[in-house]
Amino acid sequence: MKTQVVILAAGKGKRMHTEKGKVIQMLAGRPMLAHIVATAMAVAPETSPIIVYGHQGEKLRAAFSQYDLQWVEQTKQLGTAHALLQAMPLIDPNDRVLVLYGDVPLTSQSTLNHLIKMTPDDALGMLTAHLLQPQGYGRIERDTNQKIVKIIEEKDATDTEKAILEVNPGIYLAKARLFKSWLPQISNKNAQQEYYLTDIIGLAVSSQVPIYNIEPKDQEEILGVNDRVQLANLERYYQRQQAELLMRQGITLYDPSRIDVRGELTVGKDTLIDINVIFEGTVKIGKHCVIGPNCVLHNVILDDYVEIKANCVLEDAEIGADCKIGPFARLRPGTILGKGVHIGNFVEIKKSEVADNSKINHLSYIGDSTVGSRVNVGAGTITCNYDGVNKYQTIIEDDVFIGSDTQLVAPVKVGHGASIGAGSTIIKDVPPNNLVLTQRLDQRSVQGWQRQKKKETSSQ
Ligand code: UD1
Ligand code: CA
Repeated sequence: MKTQVVILAAGKGKRMHTEKGKVIQMLAGRPMLAHIVATAMAVAPETSPIIVYGHQGEKLRAAFSQYDLQWVEQTKQLGTAHALLQAMPLIDPNDRVLVLYGDVPLTSQSTLNHLIKMTPDDALGMLTAHLLQPQGYGRIERDTNQKIVKIIEEKDATDTEKAILEVNPGIYLAKARLFKSWLPQISNKNAQQEYYLTDIIGLAVSSQVPIYNIEPKDQEEILGVNDRVQLANLERYYQRQQAELLMRQGITLYDPSRIDVRGELTVGKDTLIDINVIFEGTVKIGKHCVIGPNCVLHNVILDDYVEIKANCVLEDAEIGADCKIGPFARLRPGTILGKGVHIGNFVEIKKSEVADNSKINHLSYIGDSTVGSRVNVGAGTITCNYDGVNKYQTIIEDDVFIGSDTQLVAPVKVGHGASIGAGSTIIKDVPPNNLVLTQRLDQRSVQGWQRQKKKETSSQ
């Protein structure tokens, strides 16, 4: 039997106070809905998830255009049962429907797989959880035999009912045929005048469909995000999970509460990660690396034994083994470093390749360049790659030595083994193995020169 996931995401998210819509709020670097879509695709790969959307629908669809999804509009947000009803015409009555909410982003695949496995074909399966602070959730009412008989929404609950700690996460599984018969029977006679999906529980009881429930391993799996405080709490839970995963794989985190993984991160054994490091996009780090404090790595590949010192920002860069970067270095998109390259403080590199064992240690800008092996780039060297309209290439061949404060006006090529004297402005190609000096200001010494002295001030 096929499982069809329906994700309800049409609500306005009033409590979020947003103009962008609730389900595209970011959690760990991705919209909340992207987490749910990924989980849906993993637990039900045989179908493409249906998203019930309403508010800001076009923007939402555009933001998710890369996914294989089915979209159904709910023009008026009349409640969760009404939302699910909009999706029913798309679903084969013999399929099973798994209902997820667009604002419950971190339910695990294993919990949902378990729910799918343990719910018999003709039963209603659901999650429940015990929360010490159940406020905001529907409460589960059980009869004297402990059978679930009803879900009471908080706004409709009496004080005694509000004291129930078992809550409804809002995740259900049943045959489409059952939903198709139940949903049209639901009314909106309740405190919010909404069509509550939770009313399917009463309908299952009266139609003698057995109800099965499981609880997730972690309570956070079922937490809903209705406001930004709840969003921040879930972000912390997610990051803690990532940190634990890394530590269990042999990575040292100096403080697991001060690392943020906002994408896919893989790290080799014995790598150390200091505090306040942010990983974005796809980051691959080799073995025995050290990442210093306050670094941002976005779509980066590091080979083994790389050391990134404090306060570096790397984006779309590939770093060879044994490189040392920083502190305070910025590697921009298109940076490719060979083995054993040293990039020091206040150095910016963009769209450039630097081959093995070259050093650019202080205050330099290298853009649109190819730098050979064993090159030494002196402090303050700048490639002048832009004339205001076009960008030009600089080529620096193997074993070149560039003195401090050199400007290389591109397009220009420095031949292998050449040396450039400090303070040079290079406007023409430099032949291999030559020493090049551009005109320098004359230097005078004045003997016996006395510097002006400050007047003594009274100490009153
Ligand atoms: C709902 C449940 C509650 C449960 C809680 C778990 C109902 C009536 N209540 O309450 O029992 O404890 O979730 O998080 O189901 N949506 C639509 N169309 C609508 C209304 C809502 O698509 O007309 C979507 C929302 O975008 C959201 C989800 O359904 O993703 C839940 O709606 P929300 O209004 O947040 O329900 P809760 O009050 O949290
Ligand atoms: Ca909610």
